[in-house]
Amino acid sequence: MTTVETPRLVLRHPCLNDEEAMVDVWTDAAVARFMDDFGPRTPTQVATWLREVCRTPEPHAGDRPGAVQFSVVERTNDVCAGWLGLGESTRCVAEWDFGYALRPGRRGLGFMGEALDAAIAACRSSFGIETFWGECHASNVASAATMLAAGLTEVECGDVGSRRFVTHPDLTTGQELQEKRHRHPAILKTSVGDAGPLSHA
Ligand SMILES: CC(C)(COP(=O)(O)OP(=O)(O)OC[C@H]1O[C@@H](n2cnc3c(N)ncnc32)[C@H](O)[C@@H]1OP(=O)(O)O)[C@@H](O)C(=O)NCCC(=O)NCCS
Repeated sequence: MTTVETPRLVLRHPCLNDEEAMVDVWTDAAVARFMDDFGPRTPTQVATWLREVCRTPEPHAGDRPGAVQFSVVERTNDVCAGWLGLGESTRCVAEWDFGYALRPGRRGLGFMGEALDAAIAACRSSFGIETFWGECHASNVASAATMLAAGLTEVECGDVGSRRFVTHPDLTTGQELQEKRHRHPAILKTSVGDAGPLSHA
């Protein structure tokens, strides 16, 4: 997978030139509020994180990578607007989960729903990953709308502080996912039952 294109965006492997954009992304107050302790927080941590991401070989179609990271770039100006990462889930809800954030000045344009929808489709076709899930704070309206815009379905989460979204409301139990993991041994194994049964919200 080299790049993923949408009508307004190009998703590509991050590069060192993205540092200013990534510092904007990760040092923002909304990231601190909604992404808990996930990801780098200070400019120095962002620079270290970005170097590590850039050093990681870019996965290609036919690989079975553990994760893929994208800089979300606007086609009109070739400027990085944000970050989107997808990778193996440690919880038995779906094969992969994801995280994302945009620079404060690039929000409110519906970019991330467009990016997530295309990234999921590309991970399916390039890597054979079928199921994805994501979770956000109950008060994170923009993130919930992003996942709905990308075609995910909200399901019960069991935590009033969070909202959960899946691509596969038909895959309803941890047991089914575990059977799928056996058919695809490269999928990370996790204990069945931590997610519990899912149902439509
Ligand atoms: C989550 C995030 C990436 C979404 O960015 P975005 O693509 O610009 O999303 P938008 O602002 O366009 O909002 C998406 C949708 O939510 C709606 N929305 C956003 N804020 C809203 C609010 N307060 N009330 C109601 N609807 C709202 C928008 O109208 C839009 O709806 P539409 O697609 O029907 O037009 C961005 O807000 C962000 O970077 N947040 C900080 C990091 C973060 O929270 N990451 C996710 C952690 S789970």
